[in-house]
Amino acid sequence: MRSMAESVSSELTNLHPALRRCWHPVARSSEVGQEPLRAVLLNQAYVLWRDPEGVLHGLIDECPHRRAPLSLGCVNGGLLQCGYHGWKFDGEGVCKEIPALGPDSAIPSRAHARAPFGVEESHGMVFLAPEEPVNQVPMIPEADDASFMWGDLPAVTTRGSAALLADNFLDVAHFPFVHAGTFGAEEVHLVEPYEVVREGLGHYVEVTHDFANREDPGVGEGIRPLIQKRRLTYRYTAPFHLSLRIEFLDAGGVNTIGFFLCPEDAETTRVYSTLWRNDLDGDQARLDEAVAFEVAVIEEDLIIQSRYGVLSVSTDPTKEIHTRADKSSLEMRRILADVIAMTTP
Ligand code: FES
Ligand SMILES: [Fe+2]
Repeated sequence: MRSMAESVSSELTNLHPALRRCWHPVARSSEVGQEPLRAVLLNQAYVLWRDPEGVLHGLIDECPHRRAPLSLGCVNGGLLQCGYHGWKFDGEGVCKEIPALGPDSAIPSRAHARAPFGVEESHGMVFLAPEEPVNQVPMIPEADDASFMWGDLPAVTTRGSAALLADNFLDVAHFPFVHAGTFGAEEVHLVEPYEVVREGLGHYVEVTHDFANREDPGVGEGIRPLIQKRRLTYRYTAPFHLSLRIEFLDAGGVNTIGFFLCPEDAETTRVYSTLWRNDLDGDQARLDEAVAFEVAVIEEDLIIQSRYGVLSVSTDPTKEIHTRADKSSLEMRRILADVIAMTTP
């Protein structure tokens, strides 16, 4: 018989304690400069800023003096200065100056702003780990490949569970139903059997299939047939870092969608998504069009995701029904169960 504590911990909510030991996306790199930026993760506000050398720093958004939000301050001489009484902190949170005491006064030893375990940047995003993380922030190879253009979707904060949104990104059986207004109308209902490959605290699924390539000018020119092959590679890394790489094997070109989720509080998640494409000949208008299309696709998903009653996924496989078509999102649940097990004392 399970204890109450065990059954509660198998529900991966936005505020599950295991998530404190993971990296989460909290801002785009381009948003963080020498103006302090507030970001919320796991019901905790953080302040992010860069010093004049461009080095990224992050602290809990609370001054140790009178607990004012540090994000209301400014960056002054490379230090973060609280907007209330002007105390100055370095990137580790150590107080370096208290204006009211004058330049030569001793600073109280407890005058430290609290810092998370770490902040770092990858593929144009800032990631934060509140405590020592169980894995690394994954790379997106396309982000470092000069042949790719990239376009950010506007970040949105939505009611919803980060785990359920990740589940939805991996789900391949909902397209004809949820996405009939965008790309789903021609999708077949049948999900062919596929394999899931586990890699540490993540997994990937690779499938190659035929599709009608209506965007390919080569079809009209008679160079290529309408029915062509494409390879889809879904990658998941715990807790909420996802990507889909679509390779057009006949027409050439790659279209990668990144999907990075920040569990802000019990009921809301911030959704960051970026497209990387090398098949647009540098055409910004076509990239903007692709970004707008992806926004419409995500809006279709959020109609359902934002209305869930239960804002968690269960890592207990008996709580839901899993079919062959759900192997990928079932593997995500196993991985999240492993994260919970690794982080539970
Ligand atoms: S509250 Fe920050 S310096 Fe007083
Ligand atoms: Fe979807």
